[in-house]
Amino acid sequence: QIFEIEASLASQEQNVVQAENNYRNAKLSLAQLLLIDDFNSFEIANEDFSIPFSDILTKSPKEILNKSMTYDVKSQKMIKSSDEIAKMKVAGKLAAQTLEMIEQHVQPGVSTGELDRICHDYIVNEIDCIPAPLNYNGFPKSICTSINQVVCHGIPDDNRVLKNGDIINIDLTVIKDGYHGDTSKMFFVGKKQPHAERLVSITQECLYKAIAICKPGINLGDIGYVIQKHAEENHYSVVRDYCGHGIGKVFHEDPQILHYGNPGTGMELKAGMCFTIEPMINLGTHKTKLSKNDGWTVETIDGRLSAQWEHTLAITDDGCEVLTARSEETL
Ligand code: MF3
Ligand code: CO
Ligand code: CO
Repeated sequence: QIFEIEASLASQEQNVVQAENNYRNAKLSLAQLLLIDDFNSFEIANEDFSIPFSDILTKSPKEILNKSMTYDVKSQKMIKSSDEIAKMKVAGKLAAQTLEMIEQHVQPGVSTGELDRICHDYIVNEIDCIPAPLNYNGFPKSICTSINQVVCHGIPDDNRVLKNGDIINIDLTVIKDGYHGDTSKMFFVGKKQPHAERLVSITQECLYKAIAICKPGINLGDIGYVIQKHAEENHYSVVRDYCGHGIGKVFHEDPQILHYGNPGTGMELKAGMCFTIEPMINLGTHKTKLSKNDGWTVETIDGRLSAQWEHTLAITDDGCEVLTARSEETL
């Protein structure tokens, strides 16, 4: 039941009617199950999340979500010290440098396996870092290479050779001194096809528009909103099955950064938070399927193109700093 309540809270604006239903059912079962007579003395809580049971019974999920108090326990844990942010900057810079290094190798005829080897050697030998994806939940390689209709988490392969007209996302994460820097960009292989070029540019603009609004006091829903708005105004769709994430000593930590949403909803940003924004935007449907073969590769179900750009950022007192900015960017 607690799970259902959390699920209903998590679904937020996605499907309010469904969320309200889940929530009502969960509330009833929970009250019956626990036979609680003093609701005020009871909290639904784990170490990250705490909702007084009296609130659960008397308030709607929306009201609970809007009470920033609900999130204080959780968001306080997401604030990094200036020492930690200094280390995040170093890791971010090195991740950006690796993406810059690989650019010249992305050419027709090269295999994604080869791109992985070049990045691996550079990360380990040149910049003295650890490639975070390698063995992460069993991932077999050091980078992700996602070509054309592949949305994310493509596995580098010596038999997958890039051909003229492909688009590819290279996503890499390095660990330096215990801290992660996570970033990805799109490359064109040989000739740029106009429909691909447009998708790739709009997706990059989605990321930049989100970065532009990041500062203390905005809500996570504001980030999702600007991304979704720009993508949908251009008749593209936003992938919902994968999202950005908090990052630090841990590769993927709270909060989740959804790339769709409504203004003024969700957790409020505070200085010292570090997270990624990594919109995946599709030319056709937003729906994805996970490969049954390798358990990693995510593709669009309609086989149409998908693009993604990713940066790691830190919220500062008056805005944000893009920790993985490359020299080609003015951020
Ligand atoms: N770098 C990806 C991200 O942006 C995660 C890759 S996890 C892996 O979060 F296991 F697929 F490598
Ligand atoms: Co990421
Ligand atoms: Co990444």
